[in-house]
Amino acid sequence: MAPLLLFSLILLFPNPTTSSDSHISAIISTKGIDFVKDLLVNEAVKSITPLELPDIQKTSKIPLVGYVTMVASDLTLYELNVTSSSANLGDSGVEIVASGVTADMSMDWSYSYTVGWIKISDKGTASVKVEGMEVGLTMSMKSNNGSLELTVSDVSCYIEECVISLDGGASWLYQGFINAFKNHIRSAVQKAIIQKVTDGSSKLNALLQKVPKSFSLDNISSLNLTLVSDPVYSDATIEFDINGLFNSLSTKKKANNVLRNNNLRKEAHLSSNGESKMVVVSIDEEVFNSALQVYFQAGFMNWLVNRVPVQSLLNTASWQYIVPQLYLMYPNDSMALNISLSSPPALIVTEEKLSSTLYTDVIVDVMDGNNIVPVACIHVEVGASGNLTMLGNSITGKMRTDDFALALKWSNVGNLYMPLAEGIFRVLLNDILVPITNILLELGIPLPAVQGFSLQDPYIYTSNSALFFSSDIAFSNSTNNLWHTLRNVL
Ligand SMILES: *[C@@H]1O[C@H](CO)[C@@H](O)[C@H](O)[C@H]1NC(C)=O
Ligand SMILES: *[C@@H]1O[C@H](CO)[C@@H](O)[C@H](O)[C@H]1NC(C)=O
Ligand SMILES: *[C@@H]1O[C@H](CO)[C@@H](O)[C@H](O)[C@H]1NC(C)=O
Ligand SMILES: *[C@@H]1O[C@H](CO)[C@@H](O)[C@H](O)[C@H]1NC(C)=O
Ligand SMILES: *[C@@H]1O[C@H](CO)[C@@H](O)[C@H](O)[C@H]1NC(C)=O
Ligand SMILES: *[C@@H]1O[C@H](CO)[C@@H](O)[C@H](O)[C@H]1NC(C)=O
Ligand SMILES: *[C@@H]1O[C@H](CO)[C@@H](O)[C@H](O)[C@H]1NC(C)=O
Ligand SMILES: *[C@@H]1O[C@H](CO)[C@@H](O)[C@H](O)[C@H]1NC(C)=O
Repeated sequence: MAPLLLFSLILLFPNPTTSSDSHISAIISTKGIDFVKDLLVNEAVKSITPLELPDIQKTSKIPLVGYVTMVASDLTLYELNVTSSSANLGDSGVEIVASGVTADMSMDWSYSYTVGWIKISDKGTASVKVEGMEVGLTMSMKSNNGSLELTVSDVSCYIEECVISLDGGASWLYQGFINAFKNHIRSAVQKAIIQKVTDGSSKLNALLQKVPKSFSLDNISSLNLTLVSDPVYSDATIEFDINGLFNSLSTKKKANNVLRNNNLRKEAHLSSNGESKMVVVSIDEEVFNSALQVYFQAGFMNWLVNRVPVQSLLNTASWQYIVPQLYLMYPNDSMALNISLSSPPALIVTEEKLSSTLYTDVIVDVMDGNNIVPVACIHVEVGASGNLTMLGNSITGKMRTDDFALALKWSNVGNLYMPLAEGIFRVLLNDILVPITNILLELGIPLPAVQGFSLQDPYIYTSNSALFFSSDIAFSNSTNNLWHTLRNVL
């Protein structure tokens, strides 16, 4: 049985390089790659024009005229149109090809020659049409010390035709000038464009190096954004795997989560859901659990409840039948519940829902004048579950409690009548806590907006042990410069 199982596992794991140290993965589909490619091609066109080329000077022998010195100056490529472009994935990189490119150039021409001692010269303007140009860029992406690194392996520029039209000038000039300059202009344009594309790629790489390797929401935790492996290429997608766990900023303690290998799940979900959107991000339940653990350790999972919508619930009078002795000792005193989680909550994600069991200790405090007197401690276990949906660009949800159980841990006021205590907790939980939580969840958490980009039709779903988020992306401000936007974002 074992060899068969192993074989089927190998079939299901086409990318053994995918690291199990990764808890957040972003998978870019063909549609997403095309989006990025269009963005880059548009940006390249914007950054290439206007393109100034160095002057060219040539001396040619023209029949019946003699040796003529001809100069092409102020060569400027001022317009570039790209008919089509494509992005192709290879084994370790991406090839972007812009084809059917046409360009318009302007230039000045002049010539001079001498007949005897007389120098004859003239000058004018000319236009050049560059046709059938194809520009290709091949680059590889690797993880370098946890950052994404772009390396350009090839930039090519091929020009089919350069059509030069001179305005004015002597008629003999046309052919002589074209013969002398056509190839020069062609190679000058090729060289300049290759240089521009190479420079642009280094600029992009420099920006990528600035992507922070961790992200802190506050001074408690930071999210580890370190890339754990080289991008994983398949026929139609690129997958980026990052560590994705939360770390405490104050202690050096690491979140000791149970790590599971999730490759199987990722692959399965990409093939069924990934193709239709530009990007799919999978977030393992460990990501949430590492955050919960950090905030638990930082002492955040502790709440003092002393105001509730039905304030009489927190008065010893309401508790007189639950703990008769309490009422005798502290009649008509206000109370507070000091709630703390006794262990970090663990979130379990399944296809149907998110669920968790909260283990809490509730210390019952009595406000005796200015004194806070802890009188009893009740251990409360609450099973809660919920689900998430996208409403516009906000994550909204709904939660409910599935079950709960109480046990008395200690008491200074004698025994508690637990069925009645349960009644009070049921009211606190189901009539107060859950509705308030649901109102907050309904309001939703807006997804963080990245300036210049917007999410379109984002979608959220869960599977066994992970949450998936998929979306299309639009560059909302095409009048803006992409570099400028990226520089502001990073
Ligand atoms: C580029 O496209 C514009 C609009 O379609 C057109 O007016 C212009 O002549 C084109 N330029 C070149 C160099 O093809
Ligand atoms: C690798 O990254 C770490 C922090 O993320 C940094 O401290 C270190 O200097 C980097 N090493 C190299 C060789 O760049
Ligand atoms: C974290 O920030 C809060 C205020 O934003 C401050 O009160 C607290 O002392 C800070 N904690 C640390 C460990 O710096
Ligand atoms: C962040 O993730 C990388 C890769 O998994 C790991 O080597 C590094 O130790 C992590 N950093 C922290 C602070 O945990
Ligand atoms: C309880 O105390 C409040 C003020 O703290 C008072 O108004 C109320 O009359 C008291 N009730 C009883 C039954 O003593
Ligand atoms: C709440 O209980 C914790 C221990 O569980 C204690 O450290 C804290 O002082 C208590 N707070 C109040 C206001 O009773
Ligand atoms: C979420 O849960 C609520 C209540 O449990 C249910 O009515 C709703 O259909 C669920 N939504 C999804 C998308 O599963
Ligand atoms: C687009 O960018 C321009 C220039 O920076 C700015 O004035 C405008 O408000 C931006 N529009 C949007 C929708 O962000």
